[in-house]
Amino acid sequence: MKLLSPSLLSANFGNLERDINIINQSDADWLHIDIMDGVFVPNISFGFPVLKYVKQLCTKPLDVHLMIVDPDKFINEVKETGAMMMNVHYEACTHLHRTIQRIHDASMKAGVTLNPHTPVELLEDIVADVDMVLLMSVNPGFGGQKFIESTYEKIGRLRAMIERKGCNTLIQVDGGVNLKNAAALYEAGADCLVAGNAVFSADDMIQTIADLKK
Ligand code: DX5
Ligand code: ZN
Repeated sequence: MKLLSPSLLSANFGNLERDINIINQSDADWLHIDIMDGVFVPNISFGFPVLKYVKQLCTKPLDVHLMIVDPDKFINEVKETGAMMMNVHYEACTHLHRTIQRIHDASMKAGVTLNPHTPVELLEDIVADVDMVLLMSVNPGFGGQKFIESTYEKIGRLRAMIERKGCNTLIQVDGGVNLKNAAALYEAGADCLVAGNAVFSADDMIQTIADLKK
């Protein structure tokens, strides 16, 4: 499976409607939504009042990546954005199994995200309960950063764990994805790539999205 989820963080917020319309017309599978709280990560992005309009404009499923402490507090708000998937950080959840259950109870798919320093082996007892694992290939908080090369090896270890468990958990990679590394990342075992800067800074976004998926 080769899925692509452009990250709204790199869109032109002065003209969101135009950028979302382009995504709607493209081969993008989902739209990736980065929510930051200035506590879990050293940046603040946008919140639910903005997402209310994104939901109205976007025809693609929303995959919401919460870079916030205590994401349990906002499960209902995320649900109201019409999100298909709610993704929480392993490092932000003391009772991750309960959080995942609550996301499922709210009828959303549940994802867990790992920072670059967090080993995939910590997911041994939860990987079969989540719909997706998001591997951060930059330190979360900003778009346009340099890809961390050790991610390839991490994808391999996670893929082996998923196969050993016999589950269908998807692997998503987020951060520094571009036309140079996308093919190698799918080859290494990623199912879904997130791309912010590579998509929204392109002259032809629709073509770039198609090329990233090739
Ligand atoms: C970073 C975010 C990413 C970001 C990716 O914290 O989670 O989704 O938008 O941006 P690029 O693709 O530019 O690295
Ligand atoms: Zn993200």
